[in-house]
Amino acid sequence: MTVHSFQEKFDEKIDREDTIEPRDWMPDDYRKTLIRQISQHAHSEIVGMLPEGNWITRAPSLRRKAVLLAKVQDEGGHGLYLYSAAETLGITRDEMLEQLHSGKAKYSSIFNYPTTTWADMGAIGWLVDGAAIMNQVPLCRTSYGPYARAMVRVCKEESFHQRQGFEIMLTLSNGTEEQKKMAQDALNRWWWPSIMMFGPPDAESPNSESSMRWRIKRFSNDELRQKFVDVTVEQTRILGLEIPDKDLKWNEERGHYDYGQIDWDEFWNVVKGNGPCNKERLETRKKAWEEGAWVREAALAHAGKRAERKAKSEAA
Ligand code: 3HC
Repeated sequence: MTVHSFQEKFDEKIDREDTIEPRDWMPDDYRKTLIRQISQHAHSEIVGMLPEGNWITRAPSLRRKAVLLAKVQDEGGHGLYLYSAAETLGITRDEMLEQLHSGKAKYSSIFNYPTTTWADMGAIGWLVDGAAIMNQVPLCRTSYGPYARAMVRVCKEESFHQRQGFEIMLTLSNGTEEQKKMAQDALNRWWWPSIMMFGPPDAESPNSESSMRWRIKRFSNDELRQKFVDVTVEQTRILGLEIPDKDLKWNEERGHYDYGQIDWDEFWNVVKGNGPCNKERLETRKKAWEEGAWVREAALAHAGKRAERKAKSEAA
C-alpha cells in the first residue's frame, strides 16, 4: 500500500466517524496534534489539583473537606488516564513530564490564578469545571479512540464537580450578607478567566481548522464559549448573583447572549508564563516530582521483584 492509499483509508474512516486506534496508520500531523492536545490536557488536570489542594486543610467542615479531597483526587486520576491515552501515540510519560517541567508544554491558563477565599472552591467547581464539561463532552466523540474513551469517565466525574461547586455557591449566596459578597467576589474574579479557557477566538486559533477536519475538535472555541455563556447566565440568576460584564445582554436575533470584549492580552500573557501564579505552579510541580522520586523507584523495584517471582514460578 502506498502512503496515498493509507491516507485515503484514514480519511474514509474519519468521514464514516469510525475511531482511529493506536495501531492504525495516521498522518504525522494528526499524531502530533493529538500528542500536543492530550498531553496539555493531562498537564491541566495535574496542575489543576494545586489551586484547590490549597484549601483542603482549610475547608469549613469535615463534609466539605471530604468532598474537596475526593474532587482533587479525581483530577489526578484524569491526568493519569490522559497520560496513558497519549502514551499510545508513541511518547513516554517521562517525556511529557519533562516538557511540562521545562516550561515547553502548555497547560490551561485558568490554573494560574490564585484561590484567595473559600468561595473560590465554589466558583472553580461551578465555572471552571462547568467550562471543562462544555469543552470535554464533545471530546467523548473525538476521532482518536483511546482519548474518546478516557473522556467518558472524565466527563462523568466533572459533572459531579460542577454540581458540588454550584452547591457551594448556592449555600454562600443564601447565607449571610458577608457570604453572599464572598460568592459575588469569586464570580467577579473567575468569570473572565473562565471564558478565556476555551482558547483564542476562532479567527486566531491556528490549530482549529485541521483539528475540526480530523474531528478531534467537534466545535470551535467560540461556539463552545457561547454555549457556556448562555447556560451560565441562567444559573447565575438562580444564585442571585451578577456576571461582571455590563455588555452582557440577550440578542433576540442571534438567539444567544452577547458578551463584552475579552482581554486577550491578559490571556496571552498568562499562556506565556506571566500570570499571577505560573511560576509558583511550576515550582510546586517540580518539587513534587523530585520529592516523589523514591516512590517511583520503590514501585519499579517492587514491580521487578514481582516479575522475577512470576518468572520463577512459571519456570518451576
Ligand atoms: N490555556 C493555555 N493555552 C491555551 C488555551 C488555554 N486556555 N487555549 C488555547 N491555548 C493554546 C493552545 O494550546 C495553542 O498553543 P500550541 O499550538 O502551542 O499548543 C494556542 O493557544 C492556540 O490555540 P488553538 O485554539 O489553536 O489550540 P487548540 O485547537 O488546541 O484549542 C483547546 C485549545 C480548546 C484548549 C483544546 O486544546 C482542547 O479542547 N483541549 C482539551 C481540553 C483541555 O485541555 N482542557 C483543559 C482545561 S481544564 C481541565 O481539563 C481540568 C478540569 O479539571 C477543570
